[in-house]
Amino acid sequence: MPIPFREVIAAPDLPTGFTDVAMMHRYLDAGSPAGDIIYLGFGETWTNVAPGLAAALATPLPSHSHGYVISQYGLPRLQRILRSYISATHRLPSGIEAGRDYEVAATSGGTRNTMFDFLRMLRNDPTVGAVDRPDQTPVLVAPLPGWGYAGIADSLGYRTRFLPLRDDEGCQPSLEAFDELLDSVMADPRHKLAVVVINAQHSPTAINWPADTVRHLIRRTLHAGAAVLIDDAYYAVHDPGLTPTSALRLLLEELEHAPPAARRRWLAVRSLGKQFHCNGWGLGAATADPATLDTLLNTIQLHRGFAAAVPLQEAMGTWLENPEAQHYLDHMNQQYAAKRAAIGEFIRRNLAYPPDACQLGECTAFLRMKIPFPGPRDGESLEAFREECLNRTGVLLGIDRWATDPSGAAAQEPANFRVFLGPPQEVLIEALARLAAAGYSYQP
Ligand SMILES: Cc1ncc(COP(=O)(O)O)c(C=O)c1O
Repeated sequence: MPIPFREVIAAPDLPTGFTDVAMMHRYLDAGSPAGDIIYLGFGETWTNVAPGLAAALATPLPSHSHGYVISQYGLPRLQRILRSYISATHRLPSGIEAGRDYEVAATSGGTRNTMFDFLRMLRNDPTVGAVDRPDQTPVLVAPLPGWGYAGIADSLGYRTRFLPLRDDEGCQPSLEAFDELLDSVMADPRHKLAVVVINAQHSPTAINWPADTVRHLIRRTLHAGAAVLIDDAYYAVHDPGLTPTSALRLLLEELEHAPPAARRRWLAVRSLGKQFHCNGWGLGAATADPATLDTLLNTIQLHRGFAAAVPLQEAMGTWLENPEAQHYLDHMNQQYAAKRAAIGEFIRRNLAYPPDACQLGECTAFLRMKIPFPGPRDGESLEAFREECLNRTGVLLGIDRWATDPSGAAAQEPANFRVFLGPPQEVLIEALARLAAAGYSYQP
């Protein structure tokens, strides 16, 4: 199904922070000279919503779902369903009890909002995010490459320090580097270690962090007196044979030995947008200590709004109770694995990529490939090079990082193209064939 791009990107006369918008308008205005746009720059398909989910929304909904729900925990029915869903899918042990050890809320407006609220909440916590002196800054630690956590944290007065994920370490967090980073933050009197982000199904490297690694990151963070922010956006999106590391389970296990204050300082968010191709719905689950979730929702979130998107929550509840939802996920995961294999094979044969120049990965909806020859010319930015690729092929690729860390070691790792695997396999192969036909390849 062709994507009506003009319907989903900002009008050209409106300001936007997304550089892709202007690039696409220019390309469309030029009459799509190299063929219809194949957009792999952002993790979005627009047209692949899970059919059963769309059908649940199209079925008449209870009329009460058009009103408010008087609960900041979301639609009560969806909250109940998610409580079981989170427990089952994250393999929480039977001794750990919902309502006592953790609570779950149905969230709307995107889990990015919930992360923002959590970081805002911590700014009032005297032991973590609040500073005692004006020259002191709370610090959030996030992986690089990685998703845009810094954009949330920096807007709230945090400073973001990055944990580099290096190619030569298989893109897994190095425990030594992590310990050193935490030590260096804590040794600086101007800084206060506040939050560590765990993204165990890591976007965009597509690596599932091993359980021992995640346990170490969590244990060290809790013992350092900082909060843990688990982002499980891609928890359900992984190769069929893979058991995704349940950071939530590990955290709950570790909390049993943690000091009482640490038991309250954590949040796990799970976007539902990625697993059912419904990012525009903005639905997710937020899991936290019951008292933390109470403050987060009934105080902090209430500063800015009531629970919303109730009809969507109704439809999501119906869908999650339907066994088809799991079949859909299994099928999607099989397709992603097949696409990873097909792309790996295609770029090896047709674009001269050796295996170590692309990272096919095992989870999330992305893979990464090194920037092909000729790459940006002297002085040319990666953005300019992306636009050149678009103009010559109609293919718009993404870059594997939202944040740069000019001072840090991670800056030494060159950026990669990030390929979104959402479109059908034949479309992905066509995109790569267009790159090959235009002369792009890994080796000149
Ligand atoms: C790694 C990661 N985390 C979190 C999010 C936020 O998802 P949402 O706000 O749509 O729930 C995204 C979406 O782009 C993501 O890729």
